Amino acid sequence: MENRYFDVLIIGSGAAGLSLALRLPGSLSIGVIAKGSLTEGSTYYAQGGISAVMDKTDSMDSHISDTLNAGAGLCDESIVKLVVEKGPENIEWLLKEGVTFTRDKPNGTYHLTKEGGHSHRRVIHAADATGKEVESTLEEQAQGRSNIKLYQQHNAIDLITVKRAEEGVRFCSGAYVLDKRKGQVKTFSSRFTVLATGGASKVYLYTSNPDVSTGDGIAMAWRAGCRVANMEFIQFHPTCLFHPHAKSFLITEALRGEGGKLLLPNGKRFMQKFDKRAELAPRDIVARAIDHEMKRLGADCLFLDISHKPKEFVREHFPTIYAKCMEFGIDITKQPIPVVPAAHYVCGGVLTDKQARTDIPNLFAIGETAYTGLHGANRMASNSLLECLVFSQQAAEAIVQELPNTPLPPELPPWDESRVSDSDEQVVVSHNWDELRHFMWDYVGIVRSNKRLQRAKRRIDMLRQEIREYYGNFRVNNDLLELRNLVDVADLIIISAQLRKESRGLHYTLDFPKLDEQFQKRPTVLFPDNFEAETALGGIKGWNSAGSATA
Ligand code: FAD
Ligand code: SIN
Repeated sequence: MENRYFDVLIIGSGAAGLSLALRLPGSLSIGVIAKGSLTEGSTYYAQGGISAVMDKTDSMDSHISDTLNAGAGLCDESIVKLVVEKGPENIEWLLKEGVTFTRDKPNGTYHLTKEGGHSHRRVIHAADATGKEVESTLEEQAQGRSNIKLYQQHNAIDLITVKRAEEGVRFCSGAYVLDKRKGQVKTFSSRFTVLATGGASKVYLYTSNPDVSTGDGIAMAWRAGCRVANMEFIQFHPTCLFHPHAKSFLITEALRGEGGKLLLPNGKRFMQKFDKRAELAPRDIVARAIDHEMKRLGADCLFLDISHKPKEFVREHFPTIYAKCMEFGIDITKQPIPVVPAAHYVCGGVLTDKQARTDIPNLFAIGETAYTGLHGANRMASNSLLECLVFSQQAAEAIVQELPNTPLPPELPPWDESRVSDSDEQVVVSHNWDELRHFMWDYVGIVRSNKRLQRAKRRIDMLRQEIREYYGNFRVNNDLLELRNLVDVADLIIISAQLRKESRGLHYTLDFPKLDEQFQKRPTVLFPDNFEAETALGGIKGWNSAGSATA
C-alpha cells in the first residue's frame, strides 16, 4: 500500500482548496486531492460572480446589512463583518494571481452586476463564466508550484484520527484515499488536514451542482466527531434551465439583475405579488414563489425573459447562457427561457471558528463544506466564492501560526481490506442512490411538513442500515462511497429540519409557517456520538451554544 506524507493535506481543489494551497508558504509540502478532474466542482460552474465592495457609492455597512437581511436573523454578525471587510483585498489577491474580470469598456472600471438581496451593484464577474476564469487561473498557478502535489481521481474515504499518549487527545492525522484509477486505498498522513470538498446538493434529484457535490467533507467530519450546524438550510436556486436534455445548467441571477423578468406560462409577471423587490428578492422568496405558481398551475416550468434587451447586450453579458440555450434551440435574445428551481447550495456544514478550525485539532474546513456563520438562514448571491477566499486566508494564517507546535503525524495503520470481497450486487447502490434523491426532493424540498419529514426519516433510517451492512462487506468504490456520504448528509438535513419548528429563510414548513422569535440567533447544532468536548472549539463566534438544538 502506498503511503504519502504532507505538511498540509487539502481535500478538494475548488476555489477554497486551491486558494489555501497557494496562500501557504512555499516551504511546506502540500497535497491537494480531487475526486474527479482538478477543475470539476461547483467553482468551475459559478456564473454570477463574487460580491465585494468595489464602488465608491457602495459601503461595507450596506454589504453587511444586505447579508444579515438575507440571513434572516441567523448570521453571525462578527463573521459577516470579517468576510465583507476582507472582500476587496481578496479580489485584489485574485487579480494578482491573474484572474481577469469584465470591465465596463476596455481599460475602464470593472463592471459590477447586481443580484437578489444586494442593494448595490457589487458583484464582480467574468461575463457569465466567473467560476471557470477563477478555477482555471488558480489551477494554472498551483500547477506551477513545486511544493504543491495535485492528485486527480482520488476520493477521500475517511479522516484518520489518532489519540496521542502524551496529551491524551485525539488529533486528525490524515485520510484514507481511494485512487480511483488503480482501485487501491492509500494512506495520506499530514500534520494538518483541510476539508474543502464543496457542497452536498446531489442529495436532491434536481440540482445545479456537478456530480462531485455529495457532501463528503460534511459526512467525513461528522463520522470523525465534529459538530455540524444549520443543515436544514438548503438553498434552491430559482432558475435552472428546464429541458429534457439539459443536465444541471444554471441561468444566473445576474440575468435578473440586468433586467430579466420572470413570467407565467401566459406571459404575465408574478413576482410583485410575493415581494416588492420582485425578481430581485432574495433567493428563498423567488424559489418559493416559482414553486407555488408551478404547483398552482400544474406547470412543468415557468419562464425567464431577457429578450427585451438589445441583442448585443445579451450576447456580450451572457455568452455562456446564450450558447448553451442555443444548443437546445432556445434563442434567449428572442424568446423566454424555460426555468425551474433546483438544489443549489448548502448553507450549513462542518462547524468552524473564525480561523476555519473544527472540533478536532489539526482538522480545518473551508468553503461550502463549512458552517462559518456567514450565511445564516439564507446565503446572499455571490457571497459563497467570497467566503471560500476569505476562509482560505484565515486557515492559512492559523496553520502558519500553529505549525511550530504541531508534531509530525505518527505511523498510521494501513487500510484493512481483509474482511471484504467484491460486490456481487452493485444494483443495491444504484437503486438506493435514486431512491434517496427522489424522496429528498419530494419530502425535504422547498416546502416541508412534519409528515413529509417523518416519511423521509423512516426511509433514511432503513437506507443507512442497508448501506452500512453493504459497506462493511464489500470493497469500496466511488459510487458506494458517495452514497454512504449522501445518506449521512441527508440524515443530518432531515434531523435539523425536524428540530427547527418555525419557518425562516430557506426552511419553510407548512406546520410552522411563521418565524418564531425564540429561534432568533439560534443555529441548529448537531453533536455526533463520538463528540469529545475537551478538544472541541469553545464558546465560539458569539452565539450561545447552550441555546442550540442537540440531536
Ligand atoms: P467546489 O468548488 O465544489 O470544489 C469541491 C472540490 O472537492 C472538488 O475538487 C472535488 O473533487 C473535491 N472533493 C469532493 N469530495 C471529495 C472527496 N471525497 N475526495 C477528494 N476530493 C473531493 N457562488 C458565488 O459566490 N457566485 C456565483 O456566481 C456562484 N454561481 C454558482 C453557479 C453554480 C452552477 C453552482 C453550482 C454554484 C454557484 N455558486 C456561486 C456557489 C459556489 O460556486 C460554490 O459554493 C463554491 O464554488 C464552492 O467552492 P468549494 O471550493 O467549497 O467547492
Ligand atoms: C448565480 O449566478 O445566479 C449564482 C450565484 C450564486 O449562487 O451565488
